[in-house]
Amino acid sequence: MSDEIVLYEIDEGIAKIIINRPDKYNALNTAVVTQLTEFMKKAENDNSVRVVLLTGAGEKAFAAGADISEFSDKDSQSVRPLAENGQNLCKFIESMSKPVIAAINGFALGGGCEIAMACDIRYASANARFGQPEINLGIIPGFGGTVRLPRIVGLGIAKELVYTGDQIKADEALRIGLVNKVFDNTEALMEGAMELARNLAQKPGVALKLAKQSLQNAWEMPLEKNLSFEVDVFCQTFDTEDKNEGVDAFLNKRKPSFSHK
Ligand code: COA
Repeated sequence: MSDEIVLYEIDEGIAKIIINRPDKYNALNTAVVTQLTEFMKKAENDNSVRVVLLTGAGEKAFAAGADISEFSDKDSQSVRPLAENGQNLCKFIESMSKPVIAAINGFALGGGCEIAMACDIRYASANARFGQPEINLGIIPGFGGTVRLPRIVGLGIAKELVYTGDQIKADEALRIGLVNKVFDNTEALMEGAMELARNLAQKPGVALKLAKQSLQNAWEMPLEKNLSFEVDVFCQTFDTEDKNEGVDAFLNKRKPSFSHK
């Protein structure tokens, strides 16, 4: 495999972004986070890309967290850019107009779990392990873990995971809603994630983008504001070519073919 630290491939309108430091369990050093951010931006700006799939190289890890070897010489001042870069990457993923699927093929610890949580949909292999182990290093999550984990799994479970630093297996992650589906092995995971990506790539792009925005807002905005945002973007979809195509296809009992306009 290439010696690039992050790989970028396009296949059938799907941008595959692969963290490529398998010998280091795909640990997220500064260069990896920077490259991941650049590739997410590249995928966002490429009109031929409809869906992004993020995974880790090899069968051991999605990403085993921030690169701990970068921590030794850091203090409260010098570590700030590291956390801010990680948070900015996660915020960018959430702000993207395209769905981002995390295919979690092994350890998703610390920053690995946090980046996965910023993705729209998480699929995992049975050997995946999840956790926020920072407490065992005398620190806390810094890429958004204390903020996104409780929103996804609930405050009580998030507190237990963050306070203990314990890892959980894929079936437990499925039970608590941290992942959407679990596959027997990495090969089945990648097939399942690609099948989902191909399915989403066929969906009307404008409606998908507006649905993502409205769902993201549901996390952040007060109910009334979010409901009124939903009405606005619901109405907006009625001016799209894809709405005409989708409704016409239904009424004429045929399969729609969306132009993403
Ligand atoms: N940062 C830097 N290097 C890491 C890393 C991380 N977060 N996670 C794994 N690695 C490196 C190890 O140092 C080792 O490198 P080496 O072979 O050059 O010594 C290699 O990846 C394999 O890890 P190893 O610990 O030998 O594998 P293991 O199967 O015994 O354990 C883990 C796997 C993931 C449980 C263990 O590596 C671990 O606990 N990693 C740190 C997780 C963490 O605390 N993440 C949050 C950071 S804020």
